[in-house]
Amino acid sequence: MSTEITLTRPDDWHLHLRDRAMLQAVLPETARHFARAIIMPNLVPPVVKGADAAAYRERILKAIPEGMDFDPLMTLYLTEDTDAADVAAAHASGLVKAVKLYPAGATTNSHSGVRDFDKVRPVLEKMAEIGLPLCVHGEVTDPAVDIFDREAVFIDRVLDPVRRATPGLRVVMEHITTANGVDYVKSNATDLGATITTHHLIINRNHILVGGIKPHYYCLPVAKREAHRLALRAAAASGDVRFFLGTDSAPHTDENKESACGCAGCFTATNTMSILAHVFEEENALGRLEAFTSLNGPTFYRLPANGSKITLRKRENAIEYPKKIISGEGPVTVFDPGFPLFWSVVA
Ligand code: NCD
Ligand code: ZN
Repeated sequence: MSTEITLTRPDDWHLHLRDRAMLQAVLPETARHFARAIIMPNLVPPVVKGADAAAYRERILKAIPEGMDFDPLMTLYLTEDTDAADVAAAHASGLVKAVKLYPAGATTNSHSGVRDFDKVRPVLEKMAEIGLPLCVHGEVTDPAVDIFDREAVFIDRVLDPVRRATPGLRVVMEHITTANGVDYVKSNATDLGATITTHHLIINRNHILVGGIKPHYYCLPVAKREAHRLALRAAAASGDVRFFLGTDSAPHTDENKESACGCAGCFTATNTMSILAHVFEEENALGRLEAFTSLNGPTFYRLPANGSKITLRKRENAIEYPKKIISGEGPVTVFDPGFPLFWSVVA
């Protein structure tokens, strides 16, 4: 059995870095292993214009520790007032690699998102024309729809109609959590990809709720039934070019998570590669880990794969990793997969 694997250096196609003290604390956790990441724009206030993204990129670059290499791939937060010409200019300059669609109210800092999809039609049409991907938080916000059904309903009510109305629009379904999401991506040959998080390969909804409520397992979209988790694992481990890693690593302080109204988000940057090696080994798919973490994402985003490599080694004894990251805003709990990890990045 192989105890060492070498991969093209991975990228994270969905990451929350936040700003200020939190950015400072969490950025090294990603930059240690990942060459690039698609940076989510849901700051307060959000990253809406090209100029906002340029300024945020500068703040991220300043926070990279000495000796680490990291290329933040910037996104714009789509609002009903977004100007198609500003988006096109930010793309043409090479600054912006995607636009993020949050249905208003769907998740953390999404209140400036979209309510009326007709209002963003000109922007979507421009994006289709220039080949700029739309990253979609795929959940409806209709209070009448059960939270566990919101992804499946979004596909039928919003995503499919928007894609049909905008031929050529390239869409990433972000952090899919259901077999419905997997099937929808598979039934579309072109212009559609999906990111899968680390934690949705590990937890189902029982992990959040059985034996006491576990705020550190609460994220959006919320983890679903076991059958859905198994569908996500099969998709990730299949090597299918349309599925790639987007950790959705989303730091919140313990104070904000362990609360009567806890924030959504799992912080997985620290141990993602160890967990993924564990999962892919269990799936007898270690040979396809590189496709998921390092090759399929660049193919979708029409970027070259990274030139450098990383090596992971499996140890005899469980590895140690920090249980919390200490930020200037307070401690952030690292995602606990609930079992010991044996793989670690060694080079
Ligand atoms: C994200 C966050 O905290 O910004 N939270 C989460 O549960 N995933 C927002 C998001 O991606 O939905
Ligand atoms: Zn996210």
